[in-house]
Amino acid sequence: MSTDATAARDNDVPEPRPDARFLRAARGRSVDATPVWFMRQAGRALPEYRKVRERATLIEITRDPALCAEVTLQPVRRLGVDAAILFADITTPFTGLGVPFDIVEGRGPVMERPIRTMADVQALRTFDPQDAVAPLLEAISIIRRESPVPLIGFAGAPFTLACYLVEGGPSRDFVNTKRLMHAEPETWAALLDRLVDTTIAYLRAQVAAGAEAIQVFDSWVGGLSPLDYERRLWPWMRRLFDGLAGLGVPLTHFGVGTGGILRLQASAGGDVIGLDWRIALSEGRRLVGERAVQGNLDPVLLLGPWEGVEESARWILAQNDRRPGHIFNLGHGVLPGTDPDQLARLVDLVHDFGASR
Ligand code: CP3
Repeated sequence: MSTDATAARDNDVPEPRPDARFLRAARGRSVDATPVWFMRQAGRALPEYRKVRERATLIEITRDPALCAEVTLQPVRRLGVDAAILFADITTPFTGLGVPFDIVEGRGPVMERPIRTMADVQALRTFDPQDAVAPLLEAISIIRRESPVPLIGFAGAPFTLACYLVEGGPSRDFVNTKRLMHAEPETWAALLDRLVDTTIAYLRAQVAAGAEAIQVFDSWVGGLSPLDYERRLWPWMRRLFDGLAGLGVPLTHFGVGTGGILRLQASAGGDVIGLDWRIALSEGRRLVGERAVQGNLDPVLLLGPWEGVEESARWILAQNDRRPGHIFNLGHGVLPGTDPDQLARLVDLVHDFGASR
């Protein structure tokens, strides 16, 4: 463990557990079985989550450390996954930027007012994690003490966050965001500068509180051409990963629809590169080079018969060919309506497949 990482940890955080399967695989080391966890494993599929939601909204849960820890650990207990992911949303830090928003049932995060001009960007507050997300940091220290498996902290990547801020809510084509990127490059640069600084501060605080790995979700980046990624995003992604280096925890860099930009993404940073289901795992590995990969089962299959899940899961494992450095996951998040028993069965299948070389 580097001194930087030790300094980043609070004194009461338990000792690191580098031998955990998930952390070994993220470092490209051999494992006794492929680690598996699911993006959006908390919240979407579990009846025990729906019960909690009868009395608290997502935003209320993230402001109640004990409840947030409970919801984070629900899938670990029920499914036997090899990692926990902090229960929060990618929009959670927006409050600390002075951007009011709500999470609308069936739609997603909606801002009171979109951010579209230089004046809007300059009016953003400086993000202070202790001030903005103190209950979430407390939840992390509870989870770190109680979880049998490593805790993954996370944040949205600057482009994906900008999509919500500039569009003002969920969008299909990101027209306003791309327009800003091209028509007002100075405003775009100023917005990305703020989002990079915010995300570094937010993730450093999560690691200091006890997060043992970090995932950066760039869910909507697959909407960019390779040229736009390279010219108008890559420098900031590089700055983001440079700012997280030295934390001593593995960094996962995830996006959807990224087959055309995987090399660029990987060159920006990340110890583990997320793959969606549109690319064969072996091809993804070839493109990202010497590093670990995470993925990549189509989440829709889990809504169908077990045979389809089994066939694809075995294909993915065969594609990996027992190489070290594979974390099994879906290619995107668990979908609403997924049967938790299918998820538990998939965890068993992956574990039963056995050791890496
Ligand atoms: O993985 C987990 O289960 C941990 C919690 C988590 C949530 N959001 C909780 C949530 C995580 C990791 C996220 C990330 C997130 N949020 C992403 C990146 C991952 C991805 O799916 O691409 C994105 C793009 C969002 C934005 C977002 N938040 C949308 C589009 C929605 C609406 C649709 C939905 O149900 O996910 C949300 C709301 C949200 N985030 C809910 C939950 C549990 C549902 C609302 C609720 O229960 O109140």
